[in-house]
Amino acid sequence: MARVDYNRAAGSYDQGRAHPLHVFDEWRVRLAEHLPLGADGPVLDVGAGTGIWAEAIVAWFGLPVIALEPAAGMRAAARAKGLPSQVAIVGGDSQAIPLSGASCRAAWLSTVIHHIPDLGACAAEVRRVLQPGAPVLIRSSFPGRHDEIPLFRFFPGAGRVARTFPTVDQTVAAFSGAGFALTSLERVHEQRDGTLADWVTRVQAVRHVDSTLDTLTDEEFEAGLTTLQAAAAAGEPVPPTGLDLLVLRPA
Ligand SMILES: C[S@@+](CC[C@H](N)C(=O)[O-])C[C@H]1O[C@@H](n2cnc3c(N)ncnc32)[C@H](O)[C@@H]1O
Repeated sequence: MARVDYNRAAGSYDQGRAHPLHVFDEWRVRLAEHLPLGADGPVLDVGAGTGIWAEAIVAWFGLPVIALEPAAGMRAAARAKGLPSQVAIVGGDSQAIPLSGASCRAAWLSTVIHHIPDLGACAAEVRRVLQPGAPVLIRSSFPGRHDEIPLFRFFPGAGRVARTFPTVDQTVAAFSGAGFALTSLERVHEQRDGTLADWVTRVQAVRHVDSTLDTLTDEEFEAGLTTLQAAAAAGEPVPPTGLDLLVLRPA
């Protein structure tokens, strides 16, 4: 079961997670290195949510994307945005992917692995639908690697929750069981627009959309807001956010 009710969260999801494409530009550069641009078939966006990354992959590379998403509310929010025609929104779970074998050129999983009950089952399904040699690209913030997540400085309880997410070793092990091997683990930065005062508004909007903020007590959340407001009032600049890109390929 997902840590957040994404049918409830769908309406406000993009307020917290969507950014202008330039914020994600370092991801464009990394994806260009790892995606098989000359291959056939779509990129499979697993747990695609409202289609933020499906839309980016079309904009950057002009590739077809299958946006696989189990929550009807997230699929409806994605449809309402009018995604590019190259994006096919498909209902389904990563542990039983409704696609034929060897049909996709790559799999992209952005901030989703901590929601998947059986990561090994997901890995086996991803392996089945990928073409020979196709990569798996995972965007996540792994336990022990939270040093560039500014949100956790202001909301330490959110970091506590994130430390329960699958580790690098656990993720590699789950995918190894399906015949993948680690290719690389890379840090990727996002310099988000706006000021810390904008973050105050943003975190309030996404309190119940973000699986790390959602579990905080009201006291923890209020304490974090106070720290954030103080930093904003002091004119502190927005620090970059550093997430991980884990790349695996068939062994
Ligand atoms: C934090 S959102 C990430 C959405 C999108 N990938 C992004 O980065 O904006 C997590 C998404 O994973 C989906 N999800 C939850 N459990 C899943 C599962 N078992 N298989 C596939 N997707 C799942 C949720 O419905 C939700 O849309």
